[in-house]
Amino acid sequence: MLADKHILLIVGGGIAAFKSLDLVRRLRDRGARVTPVLTSAGAQFVTPLSLSALAASKLYQELFDLNDEAEMGHIELSRSADLIVVAPATADLMAKMAGGMANDLASTLLLATDKRVLIAPSMNVRMWEHAATRRNLATLQSDGILVVGPNEGDMACGEYGPGRMAEVFEIIDAIDTALADGPLKGKHVLVTSGPTHEPIDPVRYIANRSSGVQGTAIAKAMMALGAKVTFVTGPADVAPPSSADVIQVQTAQEMLAAVKAAKPADAAIFAAAVADWHVVNAGVRKIKKDGNGLPALEFAENPDILATVSQMTEGRPRLVVGFAAETDDVIANATSKRKRKGCDWIVANDVSPETGIMGGSENAVTLISDAGAEAWPRMGKMAVATQLAKRIAEAIA
Ligand code: C5P
Repeated sequence: MLADKHILLIVGGGIAAFKSLDLVRRLRDRGARVTPVLTSAGAQFVTPLSLSALAASKLYQELFDLNDEAEMGHIELSRSADLIVVAPATADLMAKMAGGMANDLASTLLLATDKRVLIAPSMNVRMWEHAATRRNLATLQSDGILVVGPNEGDMACGEYGPGRMAEVFEIIDAIDTALADGPLKGKHVLVTSGPTHEPIDPVRYIANRSSGVQGTAIAKAMMALGAKVTFVTGPADVAPPSSADVIQVQTAQEMLAAVKAAKPADAAIFAAAVADWHVVNAGVRKIKKDGNGLPALEFAENPDILATVSQMTEGRPRLVVGFAAETDDVIANATSKRKRKGCDWIVANDVSPETGIMGGSENAVTLISDAGAEAWPRMGKMAVATQLAKRIAEAIA
């Protein structure tokens, strides 16, 4: 039930806006209070009167309506609800949201809010599949915006494909989940990310090409499902997720110490590309080219953080997930790595230079578990993270 929940419903300008009238009715049947906001394009598809009558509420349309600013400013309006729902979310509204624009009431509310936002995209299949919409969707998902649909099917414009707005019952399910704070509410998830830097001397270090993009996306996807995330990261190229508990480290040894200190956790995901070795005789001062030959660096193995946590007899997280970045025999190597380290799942990927995966924006992974190897299609790293987070939620919720 949605009793006592307050939903700010933004209705954009698409043919699916007619379904939003039914959405208002169903939400009210379930006890929710709905405040409608209609964009000027939306008003071409449904009338302000029908929307406000069904919602039994004042309808908001214009940013510069002085009466409303006197009654309730847009900032207050954007924060008065428990959840903001955008249905239909047109390509234009999604672009405005992704770009942080605020040039009408709907986009201003979406930029000013501190509440969670759920969008139900609806548009022509070509618009949905356009590279610009793909980019905007990825940005919105990485900003923690929740998305329901679109579905595949016949479109009002006569074409066929993905782009139809999700059905009303699906939107209500997504609202229920969002207001329940997601299936991972109350769960603590540990995520490692990025490379480690192993010093050679105070100015030089050993590193690798990990950007931290996949680990950061996983942390965001886990938080979008309501988890509390501790994010232990090496020096990555991307900013850590702002609402996680972020612990910045440099070396593998520091990463292990941070991971141990962050326990207990319900699940741990080891996405970091940890250096395998460190330099035992690292210089305290910069090593000089002194004409006496090359420096003799002595290496020692780093602790295997994933194996250490997987093999803990006390306080082991219920689900331990490792990554296997391989260039050859990916599945065979990852399968034996899972056994050797003792983790529950391995997310395997091919990082041969020609795949462009290491440091790139896409990933093609195979999930290896007790159930065998499951190859996922190549997709954006945020989409991989979202899918993985859902699977983790099913496993530990
Ligand atoms: O052995 P390999 O480096 O291929 O294993 C990769 C997996 O193990 C990743 O999940 C990585 O985060 C983890 N790992 C670790 N500590 C290490 C080496 C790898 O946690 N020292």
